[in-house]
Amino acid sequence: MSAVLEERRVAAPPAVSVIIPAYREAENLPVIIPRLSEALGEAHLAAEIIVVDDYSGDGTREICGDLSQQYPLRLETRESERGLSSAVLHGLRRARGDVLIVMDADLSHPPEKVPELVEALDEADVDFVIGSRYVHGGGTDEDWGLLRWLNSKVATLMARPFTKAADPMAGFFALRRTSFRHADETAELNPIGYKIGLELMVKCNCRRVREVPIQFSNRLHGKSKLSLREQLNYVRHLGRLAEYKLRHLPKLLKFAVVGASGSVVDLLAFAASLALLPVPVARALAIWVAMTWNFYWNRRWTFFESREHGILWQYAMFCGACLIGAVVSWGVSVGLWHLIPFFNEYPIVAAIIGIIAGTLFNFVASSRLVFRKSSSEAAGR
Ligand code: GDD
Ligand code: MN
Repeated sequence: MSAVLEERRVAAPPAVSVIIPAYREAENLPVIIPRLSEALGEAHLAAEIIVVDDYSGDGTREICGDLSQQYPLRLETRESERGLSSAVLHGLRRARGDVLIVMDADLSHPPEKVPELVEALDEADVDFVIGSRYVHGGGTDEDWGLLRWLNSKVATLMARPFTKAADPMAGFFALRRTSFRHADETAELNPIGYKIGLELMVKCNCRRVREVPIQFSNRLHGKSKLSLREQLNYVRHLGRLAEYKLRHLPKLLKFAVVGASGSVVDLLAFAASLALLPVPVARALAIWVAMTWNFYWNRRWTFFESREHGILWQYAMFCGACLIGAVVSWGVSVGLWHLIPFFNEYPIVAAIIGIIAGTLFNFVASSRLVFRKSSSEAAGR
């Protein structure tokens, strides 16, 4: 069996990469690697296994050297960094498979379940799979004390605003490499927490989560590295995820302030030009002046950091977006007024909803297109 895998490893890039963060797991690796390879082989999955070790100094390096003779294993040793999440990111960035799996080294996660995770991810409407303790058929080994159980439940509840998954804390999960790559390029992946799965689910924007039940076993050898400090880090991590989720809010508020000031400019310009021009021309002039005013301040203030396009191109796109935004605003208010009797009586409410819809449209178009950040800026590089 191992010879077959060896052959596949040389022949083509693997379909599946299994990333195993391992710190002082020298005793567990000789157990998990053969079991995992066998499970992958039986499912006919061409795979690579990447062990990410943080210079454990417990013989991990020698053991992986031996194992790699027989199994499709690669060892990544980080010399100066430590930490579970950053180790996982390190492995994910070096993986070549289309499907990425992350699991612990201590046999808490049954390697035999890996093909099921891969299969679940095969479905088009799934973009993240969790090896889950908390769905029907899953569970944990008996001697989890009340305290650890309670701890896990509270931590799970705290993740609720970010995901509906029953076991978002899990360290056993699968996602497509394309999802990971996209998040790695556009969002800042933050390795402070222990909960790299949750981080990825949120930042890869993986909403279609499937949970495969697993039995979470007690670790085979050695001690857990999850410390109280990591639990505090988890709370900090949730804070950062909340900031991430609300990251557009300050910009939206600035955009709204500019828009409101633009309405005042519009009225002033209209009043001033009426003395010289006929109404239709004065109206058009005032709208154009206000649009230019909005462009200037949005470019200078709201989206000051984006310089992907030249100013003339930005201006043309901004005016285009505003015109379409006006159509959206008109369409929504007239549509509501036409379809719902309530708005017949209160057309002003329909107009307000239309204005909100038009502004949101303008905002999305402005941030995604007109004032888009280049991908290197977005990644903070
Ligand atoms: N490279 C590296 N560096 N690996 C690490 C480090 C580190 O600093 N810290 C931990 N690991 C590895 C361990 O060797 C193990 O393979 C895996 O990460 C999980 O670490 P454990 O210390 O066994 O954690 P746990 O069993 O308490 O927590 C597990 O279950 C939790 C759910 O109860 C993990 O899977 C968590 O992610 C999960 O939330
Ligand atoms: Mn463990």
